[in-house]
Order: sequence, then structure tokens, then C-alpha cells
Amino acid sequence: MVDLTTRLGTLTLKNPVMPASGTFSDDLAGVFDLGCLGAHVTKTVTREIRGGNPTPRVCEVRGSMLNSIGIPSKGIDHFITEVIPFYQRYETPLVVSISAHSGDDFARICEEISVPGVAAIEVNISCPNIEEDGKAFAMRPSSTRMVMEKVRGASDLPLWAKLTPNTGETTEVAIAAQEAGADALVVSNTLLSMAIDIHTRKPKLGSLMGGLSGPSLKPIALRMVYQCAKSVNIPVIGCGGISNVEDAIEFLIAGASAVQVGTATFINPLIMPTMIRDLEAYLIKHGISSVSELVGSVDDAAALDGVVFMEAAP
Ligand SMILES: Cc1cc2nc3c(=O)[nH]c(=O)nc-3n(C[C@H](O)[C@H](O)[C@H](O)COP(=O)(O)O)c2cc1C
Repeated sequence: MVDLTTRLGTLTLKNPVMPASGTFSDDLAGVFDLGCLGAHVTKTVTREIRGGNPTPRVCEVRGSMLNSIGIPSKGIDHFITEVIPFYQRYETPLVVSISAHSGDDFARICEEISVPGVAAIEVNISCPNIEEDGKAFAMRPSSTRMVMEKVRGASDLPLWAKLTPNTGETTEVAIAAQEAGADALVVSNTLLSMAIDIHTRKPKLGSLMGGLSGPSLKPIALRMVYQCAKSVNIPVIGCGGISNVEDAIEFLIAGASAVQVGTATFINPLIMPTMIRDLEAYLIKHGISSVSELVGSVDDAAALDGVVFMEAAP
């Protein structure tokens, strides 16, 4: 028997595989037993009812996809009366992703969503700060710190900060989130991108730009996970292009304590249960007794010798 459990602060998950926010819904219960997952992560919810972005909201790019869904939301009341009760039939920890456009709004929704049945809150700070210049909170250490301090003051539940790859200050943002009281980091959200139809010359997304997800994002997210895991001592949850068990293991070795799977579920709705089974087989085959032995086990000693790992190689 191998031990698939993983610890994320005060939470212990029975395995390290969970869905990425916005790519998972209760519809999947018709495809596999949702109880097999390490955690359930909901689509981001906002306090207000939101319609989302203009269509088209998704398009394919080679091997990956772009989306500009724009966080349509039925609002927090619907979430509390309809969504949370659905997940209460499972023992699997429920992680609720929240978003807002100001620090005070973040604090308000964080407080209101801290209800029985919620095990942790994922704070989606990859959304624009409309009180300043519209840049995503997670692009800067100062706005990351501001939001995470506000939500920390509003809830006793574990708080996960979801970072963005759209920053040149990955480690500074990670450290700011930790110092402000985050219990874990989710690394990361999508990378701002664009695609144009060469026949119509129109952007392929209704809102011009959108977030790149899927295999093209993987090396970037993996690099960020590695940097974050080296910079903070709270757990890091890897997310970005994880499409099979080999990808998941790579993230664990880079320093992730768990992984989130997004776009790959659109291609194969059974990919998460398959990954859990394949992870167990990998551990058995390699004589590894627990997932925790993999976490952060990257053999980087030679590469780090004389190299400042935070800086890009030429
Ligand atoms: C269609 C779609 C909707 C998404 N919605 C959300 C969301 O509501 N909140 C959020 O934090 N991330 C959202 N994401 C980002 C994913 O959670 C994840 O961070 C990103 O897709 C990278 O993982 P992947 O390459 O495995 O898809 C969404 C991604 C996609 C493709």
C-alpha cells in the first residue's frame, strides 16, 4: 500500500488531485464518482450576479485553448442555497473560489461564504483591481498583500491565494501572500493571450484577449511552482497544463503538494480519476511509499551551484 494523502496546512487530502476552478461542475457526477477526488474546487463566485464576457468566449490554439469567460456568476445567495448543499453529500473537502473588484468586497464575500460545508476558500486574485488601474491584484505584491490581509481578517477558514503568470514579480507576490496570512498558494491562473482569425481579421475572442490554458502553459506554471516553493514555506498547489500523471508528478517534484487539473478534463472527463490511479501505480513501481516523498524532491543541486535561480538564464 502506498500513501496518497497530502497535507495542505490543517487540511489533509486523501490524494493530491483536484479540479481547477471553472473547469469542473456537478455534471461530472454523471461521469465518475466525485468522491474519489482530493478536493472539490468550485467555479469562482462573486457576491453580485454577473453575466460574463461577450461571445465567443473560448477558442482553440495549437494544443491549448484561450478563454475569456469573464466569471459569470449567479451570486452568493444562489451559491449558498444551491451549490454548497450539492457538495455536502461528499466527504471530500469543498474549496470555494471567490472573486471581487476591491479589497473590501473580497472581505465581504469571504466572510459571507465562511459557512458550514466549506473547507477552504480559494481567493482568485487574478482579477482586475478596479479601484486602481484595473491590473490584476496578483500582478503586484502590494495589492496581493492588501487583499489577503482583508480576507484573512474576515475568515478563520484556510485561505488559498491563486496567483497569475501575468507578472514579473512571481516570488515577491508569493511572499506577500504568505506574509498576509495565506495558508497555501495556487500556482497559477491563465496567461493573457490573443488569437486572430486571418480570414476575417477579427480577434477570435469577443473580449479581444483571454487566458491561455492547457499544455502550452505547463512549463511556465511549473517554473512558477518551483520559484514559489523555494520562496515560501506554505504549501503550493500546482496548476497549468497538467494533462496526465507524468505532468502531475513533475509538479510534485518541482515543489507542489497537490495539483489542479483544468483544460485536460475538457478533453477527457475521466482524466482526474485516471491520474489518481496512475499516480498510485507510479509510486508502487518506483518503490516510493508516499506522495510526500516526491514533493520538492527535484535534484537541482548542480544547477543551483553558482546560479541565482530567480533570474532567467540567457
Ligand atoms: C473555461 C475556463 C474557465 C475558468 N474559470 C476560472 C474561474 O472561474 N476562476 C479561476 O480562478 N480560474 C478559472 N480558470 C483557470 C483555471 O482554473 C486554471 O487556472 C487554468 O485553466 C490553468 O489550468 P489548466 O491549464 O489545467 O486548464 C478557468 C479556465 C478555463 C479554461
